[in-house]
Amino acid sequence: MNPSPNPEALFSSGGQHKKKALSSQFAKDVIHGFSRHPKAVSSQYFYDKPGDKIFQQIMNMPEYYLTRSEHEILSRQRKDICTAFNAFDEAFNLIEFGAGDGYKTKLLLSFLLESGADFTYYPVDISQHILDELSKSLQNEIPGLRVKPLNLEYFSALSKLSEMSKRRNVVLFLGSNIGNFSYNSAGGFLRRLSWYCKKDDMLLLGVDLKKDPKIITRAYDDPHGITAAFNLNLLERMNRELGADFVLSGFTHHTFYEPLSGKVLSYLVSLKQQTVSFSFLDWEVDFDEFELVHTEISKKYSIPELEILAQQQGFQVLKHFTDEKKYFLDTLWKVK
Ligand code: AVJ
Repeated sequence: MNPSPNPEALFSSGGQHKKKALSSQFAKDVIHGFSRHPKAVSSQYFYDKPGDKIFQQIMNMPEYYLTRSEHEILSRQRKDICTAFNAFDEAFNLIEFGAGDGYKTKLLLSFLLESGADFTYYPVDISQHILDELSKSLQNEIPGLRVKPLNLEYFSALSKLSEMSKRRNVVLFLGSNIGNFSYNSAGGFLRRLSWYCKKDDMLLLGVDLKKDPKIITRAYDDPHGITAAFNLNLLERMNRELGADFVLSGFTHHTFYEPLSGKVLSYLVSLKQQTVSFSFLDWEVDFDEFELVHTEISKKYSIPELEILAQQQGFQVLKHFTDEKKYFLDTLWKVK
C-alpha cells in the first residue's frame, strides 16, 4: 500500500469514469439530440435524484393544479373507481407505470385493502431508488398490502407478469404522464399496451384536460422559477454525469401553451453564441445565439379526442372520473 498520490492511478480512475459516461444511454441520447436540428433532449432525463426533488416542489406549487385535481378525484371517488375495477368480485393484479412516491395511489391501495379486495400491487419504475423508497413507505403506511416492485421497463414488466400470473390486470398510468407523448406516440404506446394485455384487462389513465390557456400557462411558467430549475437541471445533469461545462446563466427556460394542439412546449434557449465541452466524451457542441433546445411536451386533451384515441387503439371507454372544476380526468378503459 502506497499512500502517496499516484498519477497513473488517478488517470486510470478518470478513464473509468469516462468509459462509463461514454457507454451510457444518456450520453448516446445527448449526442444524438444535440446533433439534430432543432436540438432536443428527452424529458425522461429530468428525473435523476435532484430532478425528482425539484419535481416534488413542482407538485407542491399552487400553480401546478394537476396533482391536487387528481388527488381530489382519487380521494372523493375511490369507491366508484374501485367498484368499476370489479375489485370486489374477482382477484387481480394492480400494476402502476411510473409509480413515483405513490402519494395519490395510496388512496386507492388503502381503500382496496380495507374493503377486502384480493389483489397484489406491482409498482413499475426504471428507478430502483424510487421503488425502494415507495416499498419502505408502503410497509409503514399500509401494512398487510402485498407489494411486488418491478424494476423494469413498462412492457418488459407486463410480459414478465404474464409469465408469473394468470390473473387479470388493472394498469394505472396516472399523473398525466401520457402527456409527455405526442398524440401519435400516445396512440402507439396505447396500442402496444393493448397487445401486452388480455381481453377485459383495464387501464386507468390520468390526463390533463384542455382548459383556460392562462391556467395551463401558469402551471408551466411559474413565478417561483421552480419549473425553470427543473428544466435547467438537464444541463446540470450533463455537467455531473458527462463532464460538460454548461454555465446555467447562459440559458433560459422558455415554455408556452398552444391551445389548438393542446401542447405545452418547453425549451432551453441559449442566450448567446457559445461552445460547450463534454470532457468525459471528448466532444464539443456549438449553440447559436437564441438557439432552442426542445426538452418537453405536455399534451392536454379534450374528452372527445381521448375517446377517439381509445377507440382507435383497441379499448372501450368504461367511465370518466373528473374533479369538480373539470381540470383533470381519470378515465377507465377496457381492452376489447
Ligand atoms: C410528470 C410529465 C406529468 O408534464 O406536467 C411538470 C412534468 N414538467 N412541469 C407534466 C412537468 C414541467 C409533468 N409530468
